Amino acid sequence: MDSILVTGNGPLNGQIPIAGAKNACLTLMPATLLSEEPLTLTNAPRLSDIKTMTALLQSLGAEVSSLQEGQVLAMSSHDLTSHTADYEIVRKMRASNLVLGPMLARLGQAVVSLPGGCAIGARPMDLHIEGLEALGAEIELKDGYLHAKAPGGLKGAVHEMRFASVGATENIVMAATLARGTTVLKNAAREPEIVDLVECLRKMGAQISGEGSPVIEIQGVDHLHGATHQVVTDRIELGTYMLAPAICGGEVELLGGQMRLVESFAAKLDAAGISVMETDKGLKVARKNGRVTAVDVVTEPFPGFPTDLQAQMMALMCTAEGVSVLEERIFENRFMHAPELVRMGANIEVHGGTATVTGVDRLKGAPVMATDLRASVSLILAGLAAEGETTVNRVYHLDRGYEHVVRKLESVGAKIERIKGQ
Ligand code: EPZ
Repeated sequence: MDSILVTGNGPLNGQIPIAGAKNACLTLMPATLLSEEPLTLTNAPRLSDIKTMTALLQSLGAEVSSLQEGQVLAMSSHDLTSHTADYEIVRKMRASNLVLGPMLARLGQAVVSLPGGCAIGARPMDLHIEGLEALGAEIELKDGYLHAKAPGGLKGAVHEMRFASVGATENIVMAATLARGTTVLKNAAREPEIVDLVECLRKMGAQISGEGSPVIEIQGVDHLHGATHQVVTDRIELGTYMLAPAICGGEVELLGGQMRLVESFAAKLDAAGISVMETDKGLKVARKNGRVTAVDVVTEPFPGFPTDLQAQMMALMCTAEGVSVLEERIFENRFMHAPELVRMGANIEVHGGTATVTGVDRLKGAPVMATDLRASVSLILAGLAAEGETTVNRVYHLDRGYEHVVRKLESVGAKIERIKGQ
């Protein structure tokens, strides 16, 4: 297995281009199942998760061509040959469950493996099931697979979700586009990736309104046509790299960054003593003065502080002045980066869903272990500012969500290299 060697070496300066959003692309790709006509995505990120979703769609009979070094995905689901999403693929990536809604809507049936738990939590699918059953689907769990059918097609309904689940919102909205009649989805998730999905579905002929608000209304149509859609900028990659100059000092411009995608995150950085300025090319980030000030963080559904930036923010708080309390309200086990940061000299106490971080002057490089996608990059950020060398192991997690991390950080002056595993 490969590892990444990082050497703390002072301020970073320059520009980092931000790619298309992994979590938008992973819901835009299954949307191809809703139409017999071609769907083309541009600005797609080059990530292993995208390759996994490609393999899943191809296993259903869809054609997916990766063009222009992976930045364009040309897809066509004219002839689907299967309606089963196999455990072997789904267990690797939970987002595989996003084929459930589209397959039900297009084929009237779907067999999708339950994803099983993952490092950060149980991540059940009860909210997906409740929403699709509200649209008339019959779903039963057998041998670890969800067997869903809607022989007479789906029917619009008014449905309020118990929690604003991102994935459940995406599955229900995609299914409702081809249901008979009107669907009103209440307590819908408001993430920018959902807004991006709806904008793409609208280009395909879907009748949808309210995206980005807690109530989304969908008028079902008979069929959807093809479209071409540019994937929205990745706000989590953006937020991650905004933390590089915050942790190391210097000034970095994030090309393609948009303030509307990271408002609550940028506000927290501002409170911590980090300036975030909009430029005509993106966002420019630098420390306002000397040391960073500790701030408290509570993760919430959008537009609150994103859970996917919690690990990275904790890395910044490790060397901030004062005490920071980070409360993780979305996932039940998303502090696995904490013990690794402690190995680097951080002072962190975890009690249930709360981590208390007391800033220290400087972290010390050490060999550490990546446990999940966002934890892996928080360890790299910590290594950038630590004294000496940090080796981050199990970087396959990283490849799932960050394209060309070494190249992007090297380009602003980081001492970082990827060590090929034996
Ligand atoms: C999406 O996951 C993202 N993944 C996650 O990003 C992100 O952390 C999460 O939303 C929250 O923002 C993709 O978009 C591919 P949820 P999703 O359904 O849809 C519970 C990353 O690092 N829940 O909003 O799975 C669930 O267990 C990944 O890029 C139920 O209880 O998130 C969790 O505690 C990690 N029942 C909470 O809700 C359900 O039916 C949030 O889950 C569904 C979810």
